[in-house]
Amino acid sequence: MSDQQTQKKSAAKAALQYIEDGMILGVGTGSTVNCLIELLPTVKLAGAVASSQVTEDRLKALGIDVVDLNFAGTLDVYIDGADEVNEHLQLIKGGGGALTREKIVAAASKKFICMVDNSKRVDILGRNFPVPIEVLPQARSYVARQLAEMGAEPVYREGFVTDYGNVILDVYDLDVSNPIALEKELNNIVGVVCNGIFAANQADVLLKAGDNGVETIM
Ligand code: 5RP
Repeated sequence: MSDQQTQKKSAAKAALQYIEDGMILGVGTGSTVNCLIELLPTVKLAGAVASSQVTEDRLKALGIDVVDLNFAGTLDVYIDGADEVNEHLQLIKGGGGALTREKIVAAASKKFICMVDNSKRVDILGRNFPVPIEVLPQARSYVARQLAEMGAEPVYREGFVTDYGNVILDVYDLDVSNPIALEKELNNIVGVVCNGIFAANQADVLLKAGDNGVETIM
């Protein structure tokens, strides 16, 4: 097993401590979350709210009851991975294209636990990983032109459709030095559904796995 995969499994194991019996758990999307899902049969959940169809399918395959967020109320805990995280626990997410549903479930949860391996920690967001933006299909070119005017380089994620039937632009060369301001600015472009900067509602707890175990950062 690669070092990175071992770290993902360690972070997922550490996340179990935040799950209590009888809870409806918010569950993110991605390979790190998949490590967590494998462990969920060891806890007694009342159910789970899934942040993507892929996660929903995996949860159901293990016999875990998947609950519609509209009927779940406020969740105590949401657990997810990230593509990048900075020192303020602000994130870039959406590498797997589930950013909108992830942001909704995170917002509807009291505590957001983020699990990462060492490679995800960065000083400035967006230098190495593009910011994914979910866009209504008809607005794709318009939004791309607005982003180009901001000096960024949007790349259409070809062949990919989100759970909501929209498309993704992966945006390079954005200045993410003020993540909260940029998150708002991107949301204001007409046709944008959601962007992958999670800064206004950043993670509450970061579980960062490295060679020497899992560090908890709050
Ligand atoms: C999916 C996401 C994932 O959390 C992010 O891409 C991290 O994935 P992985 O755990 O596979 O590295 O935002 O939309």
